[in-house]
Parts: sequence; C-alpha cells; structure tokens
Amino acid sequence: MNALFAFALGMALWVSNAAAAETSPTLDHVTPDLSDTASLQRGVALFTNYCMGCHSMEYARYKRVADDLDIPVSLYQENLIFTGARVGDLMENAMDRKQAAAWFGAPPPDLTLEARLRGASWIYSYLRGFYQDDSRPFGVNNAVFPNVSMPHALVGLQGLCAEKPRQGQAGEPLCTRYAAEGTLSPADYDQAIYDLTNFLAYSADPIRPERERLGLFVLLFMGVFIVFAYLLNREYWKDVH
Ligand code: HEC
Repeated sequence: MNALFAFALGMALWVSNAAAAETSPTLDHVTPDLSDTASLQRGVALFTNYCMGCHSMEYARYKRVADDLDIPVSLYQENLIFTGARVGDLMENAMDRKQAAAWFGAPPPDLTLEARLRGASWIYSYLRGFYQDDSRPFGVNNAVFPNVSMPHALVGLQGLCAEKPRQGQAGEPLCTRYAAEGTLSPADYDQAIYDLTNFLAYSADPIRPERERLGLFVLLFMGVFIVFAYLLNREYWKDVH
C-alpha cells in the first residue's frame, strides 16, 4: 500500500514538473541591489528615455525618485521630465489606454509594481529575449513572452538578434547572429538591462533600504534591552529562593 502511494506521488510530481517545464521560460537570474545608486540612476535615465513613452509609472512621484536616487531635483527636472509635469506629480504619461490597445493589440501596462508581479529575473530575461521574427507585426518576437505585442524598444542599443536568444546557459553568448547592429556591446547591453531591472525593483519596493536600516536598529535595541531585562529579572527573583 505504501509503495503504491509513493509511486502515485512520484508520478504526480513528475507530471507537474513536466508541465511546469513546458510553460515556464528559461530565465537568467539576477539579484537587484537597491544600494547601488549609480545603477539606479542609469536605470531611471533609460526608463525615462526608452520606456515612458508607452509605459507609465503612476504610483511613483518624480520628486520621491529624485530624492531616493540622490539626483538633484533641478537636474532631474531639466533632464528627465519631458512632459511639462511638475516634480511633485505622479509619473503618468499621456497615452490613451484605449487607443494604445488598438495600436498594439494590448495596452502597455503600468510598470511601477511590475517587479512584484513578475520578479527581477523575469524582467531581465524578458528585455534580453527579443529576436527577429518577420511573421509578427513589429518583426520581433520574445523568448520569455511569446507573441508579445511590444516592439523591441532597445533595438538601437542591442541590435536585433537573428535567432532565439540562449538564456539560462552560463558561459554561452546570448546571441551569435545579428540582423542589425546595435550601439552597445553585449556586455554593456547586459549592464544596461541590469540597471533598468534594478530601477524597476526599486520602484516596486522603494522603502526597502529604509526598512532594512530600521530593522537593524530594532535588532540592536532588542539586544541591549535583553541585557537589562535579564538583570531586572534576576533582581526580582533574588530573594524568592
Ligand atoms: C512602443 C511602445 C512601448 C515601448 C516604448 C515599451 N513598451 Fe513595454 N510593452 C508595450 C506593450 C504594448 C506591452 C503589452 C504587451 C502584451 O501584453 O502583449 C508591453 C509589455 C511590457 C512588459 C510586460 C508586461 C507584463 O505583461 O507583465 C514589460 C516588462 C515591459 N513592457 C517593459 C518595457 C520596458 C522596460 C521598456 C523600455 C525599455 C518598454 N517596455 C518600452 C509597449 C511598449
């Protein structure tokens, strides 16, 4: 009976594993580093220049981002706000969702919380997953999000990969044949995508560094407090025995 049960469990696990392998794409794994301010600054610059035309970040405010990322507000306003918005405003864009849905087939979603929805590794792999596919409306497809209706926004930087990119295989180049050249080397493109991913990880959880700092204080306080609690406890019970 036990053996039968173990066999059934084994089969169930095997089947569910096989199903998962079929549907989930292979990802390259990255760990965001919200303390790397230089990376976050490059990330917000890329996001503003290449993504905000279509995607909003409407749960974030320019001012907060400028402060968190150590960018002087005047510098931020001059270089990273193109819409006439004020620094206190939410990072919205003017694209009409209905029209956008008609243009692209699906409206570009807001990306403030995208890193919570998909995870950093998914975003990183998605942005490195575009390749040439002439059967698609924009001439590109994506290895991580098949038949996505987003054009390859960074084609000028990466170039256009002419084959399905190889992800999740350490040591192998992502792409060996290009249909168009980009301005960045593969290593520099990876760095740019890391910075962009890092920025999206920040926007999804902007108070994380603050939380971790506070947590440390709390632990330190508890450590000191416990000494006094112990001494007080000893004092109270001294005469009881
Ligand atoms: C020309 C418009 C356009 C630009 C520019 C653009 N996107 Fe998109 N993006 C879209 C559309 C449309 C979708 C929805 C695709 C779908 O659902 O098929 C999308 C989807 C996405 C998704 C997946 C959302 C999901 O379903 O979870 C991510 C992540 C994303 N874009 C990131 C970016 C980043 C980062 C940039 C800047 C480098 C960028 N996009 C630039 C139009 C755009």
